[in-house]
Amino acid sequence: MKIVVIGSNGQLGWEILQQGKACGCEMKGVDLPLVDITNNTQAVNLFTLYQPELVINAAAYTHVDGAETEKDLAFRVNRDAPGHLAYLCSTFGIPLIHFSTDYVFDGKGDVPYKETDPVSPVNVYGQSKLEGENRIRSELQKHIIIRTSWLYGIHGNNFVKAMLRLGKEKESVQVVADQFGSPTSTADLSESVLHIASHIQNRTNIAWGTYHYCGRGITTWHEFSQEIFDIAKSMTSLIVRQVEPIPSTVFVSKASRPAFSALDCQQIQTHFGIQTKPWRHSLKVMIHRFFNE
Ligand SMILES: NC(=O)c1ccc[n+]([C@@H]2O[C@H](COP(=O)([O-])OP(=O)(O)OC[C@H]3O[C@@H](n4cnc5c(N)ncnc54)[C@H](OP(=O)(O)O)[C@@H]3O)[C@@H](O)[C@H]2O)c1
Repeated sequence: MKIVVIGSNGQLGWEILQQGKACGCEMKGVDLPLVDITNNTQAVNLFTLYQPELVINAAAYTHVDGAETEKDLAFRVNRDAPGHLAYLCSTFGIPLIHFSTDYVFDGKGDVPYKETDPVSPVNVYGQSKLEGENRIRSELQKHIIIRTSWLYGIHGNNFVKAMLRLGKEKESVQVVADQFGSPTSTADLSESVLHIASHIQNRTNIAWGTYHYCGRGITTWHEFSQEIFDIAKSMTSLIVRQVEPIPSTVFVSKASRPAFSALDCQQIQTHFGIQTKPWRHSLKVMIHRFFNE
């Protein structure tokens, strides 16, 4: 199956592309500046040139605070472009796998969110991603939207790599301790995405729709950072000695964030047999890989 991965320089798109190639799939990765999905002509050319049998869209405007001021751009990338990609997939008769976020929820709950729970984003990024989901649903029946959370991997920018850098530069760091969620490894998610791609290729009864996928277990950014330092200290020299828990009211940022955004991943297991992995285990695997590759 010919698969085009859009956003292949991003942390998730890159990992999907590497894993897909390693499994012998016929993969083509595209990203800015060569392919801009907000440019409709470039998107059409992508389909006509590569004739994909499946499109995986990992491209997004992901700067949560930046979206508060670059609202137009966030909506063009996260709402309009996925809508147009879905329209093109429908025209070409092919399916689309797309990613969304835990930030479609307001975070007022305290049990992991199910796919059917009411959405109510508290920031522009979450709203733009939600409207992107809705555009896809209205344009294309054969879609899989995977909502994920707190993504990290060896490629690209993320919280784990930022902490590893800070741990070498500072003796004390302050980390928010009142936001709860589930860290998700791009390696684990990519494996699941390729598993779904193989279902799409080999089966006819695909349960199209929206699914949740995140690492197993719930933590805070504070506990997450402590675990990062605990794992990394045996592999590299860190000078950090103190990880101070702070409330989100002290860590001033442009965008509000949900206080609780863990996701219930039962549906993806039921329909695709995908089991999530404990977040601490996946974090260890990523940090080992980071220092060894
Ligand atoms: N990161 C998280 O914690 C998180 C959490 C929940 C859900 N998600 C979702 O998971 C997916 C993957 O996220 P990620 O962390 O891998 O994102 P990422 O690392 O920011 O990668 C996104 C990629 O898309 C590219 N891109 C942006 N605008 C584009 C455009 N107009 N045309 C083509 N490519 C464009 C970016 O290029 P530039 O870098 O040059 O802009 C980047 O290479 C996204 O849908 C995101 O919303 C992420």
